[in-house]
Amino acid sequence: MNNHRILIVDDDKLVTWSLSRDFEREGCQIKTVGNGESALPALREFNPDLILLDLRLPGIDGLEVLKQIKAADSDVIVIMMTAYATVETAVQAVKLGALDFIKKPFTFDELKIIIERALRSRSLSREVANLRQHIKQKYGIHNIIGVSQQMQEVFALIRKIAQSDATTVLITGESGTGKDLVARAIHYESRRAPFPYMAINCGSLPDTLLESELFGHEKGAFTDARTAKKGLLELANKGTVLLDEIGDASLSLQVKLLRFMEEKVFKRIGSTRDVEVDVRIIAATNRNLEQLVAERQFREDLYFRLKVIPLHLAPLRERPEDIPVLVKHFIDKFNKEFKKNVRQVSPEAMKILKLYRWPGNIRELRNMLERIMILENDETISSRHLPLEITLQAETPDEVLPDITEISAGTSLHGMEKSLILKALQSTGGNQSRAAQLLHISRHALRYKMKKYHLLE
Ligand SMILES: Nc1ncnc2c1ncn2[C@@H]1O[C@H](COP(=O)(O)OP(=O)(O)OP(=O)(O)O)[C@@H](O)[C@H]1O
Ligand SMILES: [Mg+2]
Repeated sequence: MNNHRILIVDDDKLVTWSLSRDFEREGCQIKTVGNGESALPALREFNPDLILLDLRLPGIDGLEVLKQIKAADSDVIVIMMTAYATVETAVQAVKLGALDFIKKPFTFDELKIIIERALRSRSLSREVANLRQHIKQKYGIHNIIGVSQQMQEVFALIRKIAQSDATTVLITGESGTGKDLVARAIHYESRRAPFPYMAINCGSLPDTLLESELFGHEKGAFTDARTAKKGLLELANKGTVLLDEIGDASLSLQVKLLRFMEEKVFKRIGSTRDVEVDVRIIAATNRNLEQLVAERQFREDLYFRLKVIPLHLAPLRERPEDIPVLVKHFIDKFNKEFKKNVRQVSPEAMKILKLYRWPGNIRELRNMLERIMILENDETISSRHLPLEITLQAETPDEVLPDITEISAGTSLHGMEKSLILKALQSTGGNQSRAAQLLHISRHALRYKMKKYHLLE
C-alpha cells in the first residue's frame, strides 16, 4: 500500500479523519474533500492514484461526480463508498467506471483488501496494454518495409481494410513477398487486435484433420475424438483467421469454407448445431487461383467470394527500389541479434543485389543477409561476400541472352552456339572460367568449343 496517493471525497468528517489516519500509517499520501464540487479541482492538483468517493454527498451527488472524474481522467481508480448501497446504484456506478464498491460501515482491513485488489487489477491491465503495444510494434504495419509505389499502395490498402471491419481479403504474391506479414498487420491495425489472430495452412494436413482443426468436433465424431474440441474459427472469435495456401484447399474444404463465409455459421464435425462466430477471413496464396479455377481445382464461387478485396504483393525484382531499405532494415536487425557492426553494403554489391531476380523474394534476401552476417565480421558487405549464384546472375541480365524465339532463315545451331559463347565472353570481359560458369559447362569444354569456332588465337 506504500506511497499511494489517495483522495477521499466524503462529507462525514469522522470517516475522512479515521481513514486519513489509517492510510497515513500505511505510508500513503492523503487528501480529503467534503463535497463533490471540490473533487475535480482536488483531482487536478493532487493527481491521486485512487479516489474513495461517497455516493451520497451534499450538492452534486456521487454518481455525477464519478462521471466528471472519469471524463477528466479515465485512468484514475475510483472506489465508491455508501451506506445506502442498492444493487442498481452499484451497477450504475460500475458502468460509469467505478472499479469497486464498499458498503458502510466497513473496517479498514476490508477496505484494504478492496484497494489492493483494485491496484492489482490496474497493474495487470497496464501490463496487458503494454503487451498489446509491444505486439503492435512487432506485427503492425510499421514492420513492413518498402518505399516503392507498389508498397505505398499496399500500405494504403492495409489501412483501409483494417478500418473496414469485416471484409474478406485475398492476398496474392510469390513465395516470400510478405503475405503473412501483411495479414498480421491487417489484424493488428484493426479493432480486432485485442482478439486472437490465428493461421492455418490449408494444404498441410489431411482433409479430416484440417476440418476438425478449423471447425472443431463433438465428442465421438470420429475414432480419436474422445472429447469435444473447439476449432480455430471458434477460438478466434472476434479476431482474424488466415487461411494460408488457400489454393491447396481440397474441394470438400472449399465447400465448407464458402458456406461459412456466406452465412457466418458452421457446424462442428459430428454436430447438427450451427455455431455463429464473428471472424475476419484473410486468405493467402502464391498460386494462380484463376488458373486453378480454369482447371476446375478451385471453386469459382469461392474465388469470387474471396477476391472482393484483392491485395497483390509484387515480386521483389519488380520493385528494386525497395532493396536498399530492406537491406538496411535487416542489417540493423541482425546487428542487434548477432552483436555485429555491419555499417554498409558497397555500391558494387548493392548494384548486384538490385540486378538479381530474387526468386525467393524478401525471404531470400533476408536469409542471405543473415548468413553473411553470421559468418563475416567486416564492416562493409562487398560483392565478394555475396553467394556465387547471385553475382553470376546479376552479371548476365536477361538482355544478354540471345532471343532464341527469333529464329530466322539461315540460323544454324552452330551459329547460335557460337554467338552464345561470344556473348558470355563479352559479358565476363573475356574471363573464361566465369563464361563457362554462365553457360553451365566446364572450362575445358568451353575452350574446346572456342577452338572449334576459331575463337582462340
Ligand atoms: N516488406 C517487408 N518488410 C520487411 N520484411 C519483410 C517484408 N516482406 C517480407 N518480409 C520478411 O520476409 C519473410 C517472408 O515473409 P512472409 O512469410 O510474410 O512471406 P509469404 O508471402 O507469406 O511467403 P510464403 O508464400 O512462402 O508463405 C519474413 O521473414 C518476413 O518478415
Ligand atoms: Mg506465408
